This record gives sequence, C-alpha cells and structure tokens, in this order.
Amino acid sequence: MLRTQVAIIGSGPAGLLLGQLLHRAGVDTLIVEHRSRDHVLSRIRAGVLEPGTVALLAEAGVDARLRREGLVHDGVAIAFEGTRHRIDLRALAGAGVTVYGQTEVTRDLMDARLASGAPTVYEAEDVALHGFDGASPRLTWRRDGATAEVACDFIAGCDGSHGVSRASVDPAALATYEKIYPFGWLGVLADVPPASHELVYAAHDRGFALCSMRSPTRSRYYVQCPLDARLEDWPDARFWDELRARLDPASAAAVVTGPSIEKSIAPLRSFVAEPMRFGRLFLAGDAAHLVPPTGAKGLNLAASDVHYLAEALIDHYRAGASAGLEAYSARALARVWKAVRFSWWMTTILHRFVDDGFGQRLQRAELAYLMGSEAARAALAENYVGLPF
Ligand code: APR
Ligand code: PHB
Repeated sequence: MLRTQVAIIGSGPAGLLLGQLLHRAGVDTLIVEHRSRDHVLSRIRAGVLEPGTVALLAEAGVDARLRREGLVHDGVAIAFEGTRHRIDLRALAGAGVTVYGQTEVTRDLMDARLASGAPTVYEAEDVALHGFDGASPRLTWRRDGATAEVACDFIAGCDGSHGVSRASVDPAALATYEKIYPFGWLGVLADVPPASHELVYAAHDRGFALCSMRSPTRSRYYVQCPLDARLEDWPDARFWDELRARLDPASAAAVVTGPSIEKSIAPLRSFVAEPMRFGRLFLAGDAAHLVPPTGAKGLNLAASDVHYLAEALIDHYRAGASAGLEAYSARALARVWKAVRFSWWMTTILHRFVDDGFGQRLQRAELAYLMGSEAARAALAENYVGLPF
C-alpha cells in the first residue's frame, strides 16, 4: 500500500494549487484524478484572476508565465441603454485584475508538479474514500484493471461539483443551499482581436452579453440563452448577430468576427455545501460550492479555500497546531458566501428574467444608482477585485 501525508482527489486548479503549496512546505501529497491530463487541459473556463489569486500563484512559484502573458486590467465596463460605462477598478479598489485563462493556470501548475516530482495518478477509476471519520483515512481506485490504495493523514476533496468526495459524506451531516437561474450562457472562443481592451458586461432587453478575451488575438464572448438552447441552433453567424445586438453601438462596431474554435452552453447555478470539513476530509473549490460565472469568482474562490487549507495543514505538520484545521470550514465559508452574494447580485442586475416588470424596474434603478454613485461603484470594484483572504 502507498502512503502519503495528504491525498488530494482531483487535478483541477484547486487540487494542483494545494499540491504545489504543500510540496513547497515539505508536505507529501498524491493527486488522484479520474480523467487524463489532456482532458483536464481541454476544459475552457473563465479567465479573470483577483490580485489575491495572483499572489497565491506567486507563493506557489507558478507565476512566471502569468506575469509575462497575463493582461492586467485596471477597469471593467458595464454597458446598458446604448452606453458603455467604465468602472475604474484601480482608482476605486486600489488594484486591477489579471486576465489569464484557467486552462493556462492549470497547465502551469501541472508543469510545476511534474518538475517537482510529486506524484499524480491520472485516469484513476472508481476513486473511493475510506475511514475519514477515524484516524487512518485511505483512498482506493482502479487503473489498468488493478486496484491501488493509499493511506494518508488527510484527504482533500478537490474533485469539482460532480466529484466523489462530497458524495461520500453522510447526507445527514451536510446542509446544501442552491439557486438555479432560469437561463444559461452560450460561449464562443475565436481567434479574433477583442472588441474592447477591457471586459464589457452588457445588460440588454434581449439578454445579457459579455466581451472577454484570452489574449490580444483570442476573444471569449458569451450571450445569455434559454436553458433549452441547442448548439446546433447557434451557427456562428447567429451568435455574432446576437452578440452585437446586445452590446452598446461602440462595442458592437468593434467586434471582429471569425470562425469559432469552441462553442458551449453552461447553465447558471449558485450552490454551497456546509460544512467544508468532515473529520479528516476537507472539501475545496467546486467540490464545496458553485457560483454563476458573472464576476468570474469560481477559480478565485477555489484559490482562497486552498490558501486557508494549505496554511492549516502546514501549521499542523510544522507546529502540531490544529487551530487552522478546526477553523478551516468557517473561514472558507465566510468568504465563499460573500462571493456567492456578489455573483448572485451581478447576475441579477445584468440578466433578463422573464416577464418580471417589477424586477426590470429594479434592475434599471440598480444600474442608474451604480452610475450615479461612487460609493456603489466602489462596492462593485472592491468585490470584483476580490475581498481580502
Ligand atoms: N475522482 C477523481 N477525480 C475526479 C472525480 C473523481 N470521482 N470527479 C471529478 N474529478 C476531477 C475532475 O476531472 C477535475 O479534473 O476533479 C477535478 C476538479 O476540477 P475542477 O472542476 O476544475 O474544480 P476546482 O479545481 O475546484 O476548480 C475551481 O473554478 O472557474 C471555476 O468552476 C471552475 O473548475 C473551476 C473552478
Ligand atoms: C471569461 O473570460 O471566460 C469570463 C470572464 C469574466 C466572467 C466570466 C467569464 O465574468
């Protein structure tokens, strides 16, 4: 049987970042991931990093390419009623955000792990958790027809929203909170220069739209779509027309169209599971919570969870201290709920909800208030660049 100190389930950004921070502190980890490395790297997700996330990636020693290729944005725009309004993040919150794809973060973390020699098992089937309520937890899995097992001190469940970790907890020990939004986002990735050098979040009667990017030559766009939308009904031409129809005229005129290299539909959901610790099992990232993508908090929340968890585990191994481990769930959840609130609020003020006249008037009032009040803009900016850990 293998033996490690912390067995990590999942090699998404949460699991990899935790592994890297622990490795640098001399704590042994084994990552067990059920997909292949290439599959993990093929997933396209949001790409806005809070300064706190960038600092944590620096602490993990994986910020070299991010510093070179990441685009620092000092502002973000909100467009409605034909006008684009800039929110000056740096002036209002003292910092900007860094646009750098989650896929790139994952790649940098995987490369660092490979270089460190810390072990990862890819394509592990039937990963199962054992004994995390007691003193000697274990993980088992199957690979190439053989069963494998690792004994550990702790298990970190970093296996995303459909993972096995949360599903292995006694349901009576778990409280879940959920909000399903009645729409999704249709996203397109294209090798065309972005319409705007900063992100544009657009509220329109036809629905929400977002202009984002991955680099000066690669754009990422989204339009709000019905939950039953089908990709085959959205050829590129229809997507570009719909996007431009929802943007302010200046942004619309700047959209450069081209063939999509990826197109996908994602539903919007807020979800929180409490607590985030069960004996020797700790949940982090999407395994414990989801936010709608408006505001791009998913990856940043995974990073703050990992910050608290790595600190607690390192304290445990260095000083035999258990206070950090005891406090982990409450510390992480306090920040999670604030980001859940912000993501819900951004979603609510910018999307089109069906036939809700009262709600629409409130949206207009919210947006008008935002543009008329520096205090309101400062609140948005403070949350957008990320609350302190
Ligand atoms: N066994 C092993 N690995 C698993 C299992 C399982 N049963 N189930 C899922 N996994 C793996 C997935 O294949 C994935 O690689 O766990 C990983 C979870 O990674 P993510 O879904 O990326 O979640 P997380 O690391 O928490 O990242 C946070 O930020 O932008 C958001 O939602 C976005 O993924 C993003 C998140
Ligand atoms: C993205 O670039 O994919 C992105 C950016 C900002 C968001 C969501 C997604 O709020």
